[in-house]
Amino acid sequence: MDLVLKVWRQDGPGLPGRMERYEAKGVSPDVSFLELLDQVNDQLVRAGKEPIAFEHDCREGICGSCSMMIDGAAHGPKRGTTACQLHMRHFHDGQEITVEPWRAAAFPVIRDLVIDRTAFDRIIAAGGFVSVNTGSAVDGNTIPVPKEIADVAMDAAACIGCGACVAACPNAAAMLFTAAKIAHLNRLPQGVPERDRRVRAMVDQMDAEGFGSCTNHYECTEACPKEIPVRFIAEMNRAYAKAALSAPVETGDRGGHG
Ligand code: SF4
Ligand code: FES
Repeated sequence: MDLVLKVWRQDGPGLPGRMERYEAKGVSPDVSFLELLDQVNDQLVRAGKEPIAFEHDCREGICGSCSMMIDGAAHGPKRGTTACQLHMRHFHDGQEITVEPWRAAAFPVIRDLVIDRTAFDRIIAAGGFVSVNTGSAVDGNTIPVPKEIADVAMDAAACIGCGACVAACPNAAAMLFTAAKIAHLNRLPQGVPERDRRVRAMVDQMDAEGFGSCTNHYECTEACPKEIPVRFIAEMNRAYAKAALSAPVETGDRGGHG
């Protein structure tokens, strides 16, 4: 396949960017989108030019680092798929493809397609953990968890923290990500003691990072490579309201999360 890529190039944070056009010839339909970028980068390096900066790690759909907009869609046109697992057979010969970084104020561009996703780390640091001592792995496994609860917790834990939900949302909301993390931990016996504190701290941090609120567009779940369902957002809103009512804080509560 012969393809044309129009890629966002930006030399650093806060600098003006531009779209640059590259031709990729003889691309195998079996390579992934990241391997296509590798091929273009080889050409650039051979020509003495700066390669396109993009993030990647696992290349098997589990680390969440390969974030990019492909033809205006987070992770590209195929549902439930990360950019690293998107193969060129889903495009056609001669196609022109635009590639851009996530666009959200809370995810500033570092360079080209690489964005700063540390806002997600700070949401996790606010409460996305279990601080009770569960002992060794063996002790932890002796706590019985009903299968129905384990199954839903596992569905929520499938979130890979990629940020596609934010990039796809017209409000740049991070509610699907935050809700998935809360849904995972809050329903497990090890996570229950800190349930109320967790939901309040994580939602408040999400707001403080400048993410928007959900207005039910459902673009997040459409773009999510793990197809995390939006019902976790409703669950988070109920848990937040319940926690706020049971222990109001002096700093004033934020309302209207969705
Ligand atoms: S909810 Fe989905 S789209 Fe959002 S960060 Fe998690 S895996 Fe990525
Ligand atoms: S590189 Fe890890 S999910 Fe794509």
